[in-house]
Amino acid sequence: MFTIGVDVGTSAVKVIVMNESGEILRTVSRDYPLYLFGEGCSEQAPEDWWTQTADALRELTKEYADISAISFSGQMHGMVALDGNGNVLRRAILWNDQRTVKECEYLNDTIGREVLLANAANIALTGFTLPKILWVKNNEPGVFAKIKMVMLPKDYIAYKLTGIAASDYSDASGTLLLDVKKCDWSDKMLEIAELTRAQVPKLFASFESVGTVTEGASKETGLPTSCKVVIGGGDQAVGAIGTGTVEEGTCSVSLGTSGVLFVAMDEFAVDNSPAAIHAFAHATGRYHMMGVTLAAAGSFKWWMKTLETKEYKKEEAPITNLGENKIYYLPYLSGERTPHNNPNARGAFVGMTMATTRAEMTQAVLEGVAFSLRDILVRIRALGKKIDTARIIGGGASSPLWCQIVADVLNVKVQKIHSGEGPALGAAILAMVGAGAFASVEGACAKLIRTTDTFTPNADAAKGYDAHYKIYTNLYEALKPMYNAISEV
Ligand code: XUL
Repeated sequence: MFTIGVDVGTSAVKVIVMNESGEILRTVSRDYPLYLFGEGCSEQAPEDWWTQTADALRELTKEYADISAISFSGQMHGMVALDGNGNVLRRAILWNDQRTVKECEYLNDTIGREVLLANAANIALTGFTLPKILWVKNNEPGVFAKIKMVMLPKDYIAYKLTGIAASDYSDASGTLLLDVKKCDWSDKMLEIAELTRAQVPKLFASFESVGTVTEGASKETGLPTSCKVVIGGGDQAVGAIGTGTVEEGTCSVSLGTSGVLFVAMDEFAVDNSPAAIHAFAHATGRYHMMGVTLAAAGSFKWWMKTLETKEYKKEEAPITNLGENKIYYLPYLSGERTPHNNPNARGAFVGMTMATTRAEMTQAVLEGVAFSLRDILVRIRALGKKIDTARIIGGGASSPLWCQIVADVLNVKVQKIHSGEGPALGAAILAMVGAGAFASVEGACAKLIRTTDTFTPNADAAKGYDAHYKIYTNLYEALKPMYNAISEV
């Protein structure tokens, strides 16, 4: 049996074909434009996601025509608005867009955090979908009046394949419209959004098939009309499946554009603290918690671009011993989500002298991102989770140095996985479960996911990082008033 996993990312769509033994037979990727403008606005055209996905599928199906099922991992939270004919009304407003500060203030302060936590298990963050819906209502009333359906990025691809408006519990958790515990749309939250149940997709578990490929979509993609369309989930939950992070208390770290520390849970729980660790449904059918730092590998990419180099070259300067670097980097290039929830936060380097080398600054970038993950770990541990190992994925995981820094800064063992495909692999696994090749997601992961290298924390480095982490957290507190001042000048 062959299945396809599609990862609808922010820079590109990645499509893989997998067999029942978990072998990835072919990978095709297509990129599309990202529109960044104004004060933190970030948009993409859903039509671009579809044309590029269809193109990638056509290439794969030339070689692998007999596909049993397809499933998805999608960048989360993006608002896709459709009219009554299924046409896109405006470009999608993405997960990293920061324009909804006022709408978040309205939700958190006027509606109130207690109401949000009771009905949607989370408070409002600029990244989430509901604030975007309210922004469109407030700023583009003509568009809002025409909305017949609001869906998430990967749901749009499933819709183009099947004609069915469907979503899943994990991705829907990030809309702030879902009663996460019940895995159903919240009537209270829909009322706040001024939407009805008819304007949001029907909900499924991530491993459930919502239908098959239409004749038209079959012609466009080469997929057979018998191919099951399994709805999949948000990229963090599906990426966690791709690392086998499915059993209670297991943890994964993603070093993608954003960085995530993710913990799988059997039981639903909410974080009432101001850090607002996300309490979401997992793609296994159970729950998870996670915190998100908005610029992880994104920080590294920015720094490499700033240095006008593609790759950091070790020979240019010696790297400081781990745990001893006195240069600090605050990775808040896109504001910050967990734990500060501060769209005004900004990136900073602190501590340079005339002797500081660019190698030390590069190392500070890797360490600053690891400190921001520790900020999340501290909050998740405060909720009673014991974490001593984390599986790592994302572009940043290809750097052994960064994996070691994460192990030392978090003081947990860090394990790599046999495949770096993460979200696309998780999606192909969900498609396998939906097609009946495995009875459960957990069973499929046990058979298909293997860990490879382990990075064990070095006691001396970990001790050094403990001291530097304190300074790192104090730096944020010291700079916070300045961030606010900068946003006001
Ligand atoms: C998760 C989040 C990001 C996007 C990136 O809450 O906002 O990880 O899903 O694709």
